[in-house]
Amino acid sequence: MTMSLVLLALLAGAQAEEQAHFSNTPTDIWAALSTRLGGRVFKAKPFAEPCFTNATSAECASIQELYQNEKARTHQAGGYTWGQWEGCQDTGEQCLLDFAVPTDEAATASPNTCALGSIPDHFIDVRGPADVIAAYEFSKETGIPLVVKNTGHDFKGRSSGRGSLALWTHNLKDISYDAAFVAEGCSDAYPAVTAGAGVQFLEAFQFAEENNITLVGGSDATVGFAGGFTMGGGHGVLSPVLGLAADRALPLP
Ligand SMILES: Cc1cc2nc3c(=O)[nH]c(=O)nc-3n(C[C@H](O)[C@H](O)[C@H](O)COP(=O)(O)OP(=O)(O)OC[C@H]3O[C@@H](n4cnc5c(N)ncnc54)[C@H](O)[C@@H]3O)c2cc1C
Ligand SMILES: *[C@@H]1O[C@H](CO)[C@@H](O)[C@H](O)[C@H]1NC(C)=O
Ligand SMILES: *[C@@H]1O[C@H](CO)[C@@H](O)[C@H](O)[C@H]1NC(C)=O
Repeated sequence: MTMSLVLLALLAGAQAEEQAHFSNTPTDIWAALSTRLGGRVFKAKPFAEPCFTNATSAECASIQELYQNEKARTHQAGGYTWGQWEGCQDTGEQCLLDFAVPTDEAATASPNTCALGSIPDHFIDVRGPADVIAAYEFSKETGIPLVVKNTGHDFKGRSSGRGSLALWTHNLKDISYDAAFVAEGCSDAYPAVTAGAGVQFLEAFQFAEENNITLVGGSDATVGFAGGFTMGGGHGVLSPVLGLAADRALPLP
């Protein structure tokens, strides 16, 4: 059976919330935002930071072991698939191990230090539309730029950004199947999957298998289903027959 895909429109149906008031003093703004969002705003931590804190600790050993592991990186807010998008190419600030030999202690030895580089300063662990609305209001009031990060796979570094606030969509894992889905403005029904903006292909393919349906996905299990892949077109082995993932996206009612 051929499938259609529905993107999660984070903003759809959202209730307009009372405007937040963020003062312009740097110490207060993060606290105000975090309070408004139930404590789900946190300061970023580079993936390799434990090795700069203590290169012989068990935590560092675990990071060294997982350093080339894509899946582990996509599960961490401060982890990106391509190390250059953790570092800042302008200032040279970074917090990186040697990708080829993660156990090489030269990477963490003086004068090398650990800095955020291009990793956003703060992340929101997004759980719903109200978080996204608050982030846009916050950005408008403070001038702090926003980025959206699901997996950190972006080749062009668009899910990172020095000095930014990130909407981290990783935990939006809801996924459901409707054999007779009616999209916005339509009267015909289609079989369709509705997936949260944190669903990755390893989860989407497993879901498809369980439901005996076919999805247009890519070659990499940890790429996100709804974000950069589908909105960027989304090419996979089934594309010559079924088209691009974007060809199969439907608007939520
Ligand atoms: C190893 C590897 C294999 C790949 N194989 C394929 C392939 O077979 N076919 C293919 O077509 N592509 C492939 N890609 C490319 C991949 O589809 C893109 O890198 C894609 O942009 C990754 O999207 P993401 O959401 O997982 O990553 P992220 O880095 O989290 O996001 C990518 C971009 O999308 C934006 N974004 C993410 N989620 C949202 C959202 N919910 N709302 C708005 N913006 C959002 C981000 O801001 C960023 O600009 C591959 C990439 C890698 C690293
Ligand atoms: C799965 O779908 C195919 C194609 O629609 C169908 O022929 C097959 O019987 C289905 N299998 C199960 C276990 O539902
Ligand atoms: C680093 O970690 C090791 C192993 O846990 C520990 O023995 C050592 O005291 C730690 N060093 C510092 C400076 O904390």
